[in-house]
Amino acid sequence: MEYATLGTSDLRVTKIGLGTWQFGTEGWGFGQDFTEQEALAVMDKALELGINLIDTAEVYGDGRSEEIVGKALAGRRDRVVLATKVLPRHLRERDLVRACDESLRRLNTDRIDLYQIHAAEPYVPLAESMSGLAKLIDQGKVRYVGVSNFPVPLLRAAEDAFSGRIVSNQVRYNLLQRDIEAEILPYCRDHGITVIAYSPLAQGLLTGKYDRDHLPTDKIRQRNPLFREENMVQVFPVIDLLRQIGEAHGVTPAQVALRWVTQQEGVIAIPGAKRPAQVEENARALGWSLSPDELAHLDAASSGLKFSYF
Ligand SMILES: NC(=O)c1ccc[n+]([C@@H]2O[C@H](COP(=O)([O-])OP(=O)(O)OC[C@H]3O[C@@H](n4cnc5c(N)ncnc54)[C@H](OP(=O)(O)O)[C@@H]3O)[C@@H](O)[C@H]2O)c1
Repeated sequence: MEYATLGTSDLRVTKIGLGTWQFGTEGWGFGQDFTEQEALAVMDKALELGINLIDTAEVYGDGRSEEIVGKALAGRRDRVVLATKVLPRHLRERDLVRACDESLRRLNTDRIDLYQIHAAEPYVPLAESMSGLAKLIDQGKVRYVGVSNFPVPLLRAAEDAFSGRIVSNQVRYNLLQRDIEAEILPYCRDHGITVIAYSPLAQGLLTGKYDRDHLPTDKIRQRNPLFREENMVQVFPVIDLLRQIGEAHGVTPAQVALRWVTQQEGVIAIPGAKRPAQVEENARALGWSLSPDELAHLDAASSGLKFSYF
C-alpha cells in the first residue's frame, strides 16, 4: 500500500480509497445489477486489502450508502478514515448540525473523520457554514473539514472564512477530464490541500470494457456525455494506449488509469466498485510506477481531447 497525508491533518490514507456512491443508488443499478450483499462484500474486500479511506455522502442512495458503510464497519470502525459529505441544502448552521447527527447515526459512529461540503450553496453565506463546521469539530463530531467541487475563488473564500484548515477538495479527475489542472490542482498544491479524485476511471469507461456495442444500462451513465458515440470515438485511442502500457507492466487498463491519477502530485483517488474483484484490481494499481516516458505518452494522448457536453 502507498499512503498520503490528507492536507495538513494527521490522517494517513491509502492513495486508493473506496467510493461508495454505488451503494444504495438505483441510478447505479443497485437492487438490480448488484445488491447490499455485494456492497458489504466490497467493503470486506477493501478492508482486507488495507484500503483505509472510505468515501460516502448523505445523498448517496438517500442515506442507504451511509447505512451500508456503517453496517460493514461495525466492530472495526477504527481501521478506516471515514469521509462523508453534507448536501448544499444543509449548509445553514441549524441544518448542518442535524445533517451531521443523521450521518453519524446512519454510519453507526460517534465521529466523522472528514466532513466535506458536497458542493457550494450560493444562497448560504460561507461564513455561516464554516463556523458551523468549526463547532462540529469543537464538539468532537467531526475531525477534519474538506470541500468538494469547489473552484478556486470559492476555495479561497472558504479558507478565509474557516478558523481551521481545509484539508481536501474532492473533484472529478481522470485521464479524460483534466480541467482541474488549469487552476484547482495548482492552487491545492500551493495551499497544502489534497485533491481527492472522483470518477478516476471516468465511471468505468477507462477500464476498456465499454464500446458502442457494450454500453452501460444504468441511468447515471446514460446521462454521462462521455458515453455518447461522438465522445467515445475520441476515447478509444487512449484506451488502446492504456492497454499497451498495461501489457508492459502486466496490469490492466484500469490499473494504468488509476496509477496515472495517483502519480500526480498531491492527488489520491476514490474509485467506486460493485464487486470485490474490482476493488482488488483497483488496489493493485499501487506498488509499481509509470515511467516518465509512459506518463508523457499518456499526457500527449489525452491532453488535446475536447468532448461535447451538450
Ligand atoms: N463529490 C462528488 O460530487 C462526487 C461525484 C461523483 C463521484 N464521487 C465519489 O467518487 C467515487 C468514484 O466515482 P464514480 O463512481 O463516479 O466513478 P469511477 O470510480 O470512475 O467508476 C466506478 C465504476 O466503474 C466500474 N469499475 C470500477 N472498478 C472497475 C474495475 N476494476 N474493472 C471494471 N470496472 C470497474 C464499476 O461500474 P460497472 O461495473 O457497472 O462498470 C464502478 O461502479 C464515487 O463512488 C463517489 O464516492 C463524488
